[in-house]
Amino acid sequence: MFDTLTQCEPDAIIALMQVAKADTNPNKIDLGVGVYKTDDGATPIMRAVKQAEALYHHEEITKSYVSTSGNMEFRRLMTDLILGDNHPAGDRIATAQGVGGSGALRLCVEVIKAASPQATVWVSTPTWANHIPMLESVGLGLASYPYYNKETLSVDFDAMMDTVSTGARSGDVILLHGCCHNPSGADLTHEQWDTVTDLMADRGLVPFIDLAYAGLGHGLETDLYGLRKVVATLPNVLSGISCSKNFAVYKERVGMALILAETPEQADIVQSELGLVQRRLVSMPPDHGAALVARILGDRDLRQMWADELDEMQTRISDLRVTLSEALNVQGGEVIARAVREQNGMFSMLGLSKDQVRALRKKSIYMTDSARINIAGANLKTIPQFADAILEVL
Ligand code: LMR
Repeated sequence: MFDTLTQCEPDAIIALMQVAKADTNPNKIDLGVGVYKTDDGATPIMRAVKQAEALYHHEEITKSYVSTSGNMEFRRLMTDLILGDNHPAGDRIATAQGVGGSGALRLCVEVIKAASPQATVWVSTPTWANHIPMLESVGLGLASYPYYNKETLSVDFDAMMDTVSTGARSGDVILLHGCCHNPSGADLTHEQWDTVTDLMADRGLVPFIDLAYAGLGHGLETDLYGLRKVVATLPNVLSGISCSKNFAVYKERVGMALILAETPEQADIVQSELGLVQRRLVSMPPDHGAALVARILGDRDLRQMWADELDEMQTRISDLRVTLSEALNVQGGEVIARAVREQNGMFSMLGLSKDQVRALRKKSIYMTDSARINIAGANLKTIPQFADAILEVL
């Protein structure tokens, strides 16, 4: 039966994670997979999560099934967190807990396929490594818009607008990164969000927002601007939201699909579609991580503790950006230095060639082949060594 199969290419990010892990060089610098790390290279459990877990251990009274759409309290609290209290979407929202951010995106993709199989989904060049395979696997049409200019290391907004406005047809879906663009780190400004929202409104385009790093760019309120803008303006929005990074619950796989419909009646129908899709994919999402997030968001003290810890992570990433930028800001490194300083969240894409990335890998410095670095994997000790190595390959 398996004669027809051939060896699969490993996923680039997952493979890199394994290679870096296996490297025993004590001076290795692992800036590969998007995981937050402290100065000593650990990815600790957040204090609020630890406390919620202790409380929940006593409070949990059953392991019985929850539902195909997942933990209702989690979905309610997450919707309020993401859209803000008294959000304008009212009861036009459908939600389902996803198996991590990827599971949430997958739910949205399945709903797009069911509702609008002829739609083309437009993705940024570049985009997160799993977007295109996921969209291809359900057979949706794909197109791309230019986004990151590898020379200037910044968003090419004119080219993006040009391509979308001339190429996309009414009903097409535009996949956008809510904040902390993965892999580039280059985000739309609020003004650019306004402009692209106007374009989508004019052309009948549907935004699909991947929101995996909210809070880690400039803090929650600022990072949520784009998603809130499209929800306040457009009739239909899809969003795949991840709690992996901002609650640091990576392996618990916590995420949520949030879909805005035109009317409450339509939202009910979308809700039933989400339930059906989930049933086919995984039947029901695991509850533990979602229950912890709900425990935190529903408790004033735990919520404050979590918000403070999220701010600490965000501040550390910003500080690392400043330090790295200063170390690179010498002759030949100016463009990268500026990009690192101005970009947001964990990632920056340095515009290096594959050969340059491979040369760095020989020195136990790990980044993806696309020259994406996870700044949160660096620390004050490793930054000088890293900056010198970059300047050398330049
Ligand atoms: C990343 O981009 O490194 C993370 O989102 C982890 C992943 O699953 O790719």
